[in-house]
Amino acid sequence: MLRLNSGSFTSIPTMLVSYDCGIAFDVYIRKGANFFLFARHGELTDAHKHRLTEHNVDTLYIHSDDLPSYDAYIEENFSNLLQDDAIPIDDRSELLYGYSLGLGKGLLQNEGMVQPTVEHRDKLLMLADSTFDFISRRKGASKSIAALLSHNYKTYSHCINVSIYVMLAMVKLGFDKRSSRAVGAGAALHDIGKSRVPAAILDKPGRLTTEEREIINQHPIDGYEICRDMDLDDASIDCILQHHEKLDGSGYPGQAVRVPRHVRIVTVADIYDALTSTRPYCRAYNAFEAFKIITKDAEAGRLDKEVCKEFMLILTEGQIVSG
Ligand SMILES: [Fe+2]
Repeated sequence: MLRLNSGSFTSIPTMLVSYDCGIAFDVYIRKGANFFLFARHGELTDAHKHRLTEHNVDTLYIHSDDLPSYDAYIEENFSNLLQDDAIPIDDRSELLYGYSLGLGKGLLQNEGMVQPTVEHRDKLLMLADSTFDFISRRKGASKSIAALLSHNYKTYSHCINVSIYVMLAMVKLGFDKRSSRAVGAGAALHDIGKSRVPAAILDKPGRLTTEEREIINQHPIDGYEICRDMDLDDASIDCILQHHEKLDGSGYPGQAVRVPRHVRIVTVADIYDALTSTRPYCRAYNAFEAFKIITKDAEAGRLDKEVCKEFMLILTEGQIVSG
């Protein structure tokens, strides 16, 4: 066997490549500090798979040079992999969250360098569809995916987390797949306008000046502009434009006459994820501290009381919260 002990390798769950024999990348196994070529691309046969099962090999490795081929394989087989019950639920959750973060990072962490297109929209809609199916059809999927969410705040991970919380809520509240997909895609894009806000303002530890606050408050409108070539559904646009609107009119940009229910769900998920994440200017609150703050806002008439109650029930009954 070819042995490699240099270069960079990435671990992948064995089950993800067992699904299809036609992989376009080499796979390695690891022994100590060394990596051994196990099968060349296109040559992972049933006999190979049998050996992996026989020896309980649950992790394989791919070389960094092959990452683009691996990503293409995952993208092509994404929906099928998520629905494949032979793959442990936690591995599929990892696949879902990893793919979502990759998509979010490409769109939101490029300082406005990426102009999103209908192709990006279609990927986000496919992701929302797959997330909906995964959560609604697989027992334990909600808890498994929620356990992975990063609490180290970055705009892209925050957007993806919000999108996942929103999909959890929409499935539990009985929204159908068709309406959930546009909201899921909109939630994943809701803060894309922040790519136009300088990091020095976004991450400023102290109090913001009036001017800095105005720049930040522009991000829903900037987000709407950034997404103009995506041909988004109205439900997705609502999420981007209105997620900071408050029911008592104290939010921004202050253009919504009536905030639709799906946006109210995004707003609560947005606040919850931000509060439970470590931000440069604020510690992470635990779930119950965050619930207390959200409840206070709802009691004051800023947030939808029913939506807040439902959201908190979904997280507690699904044992998704961590104290
Ligand atoms: Fe925002």
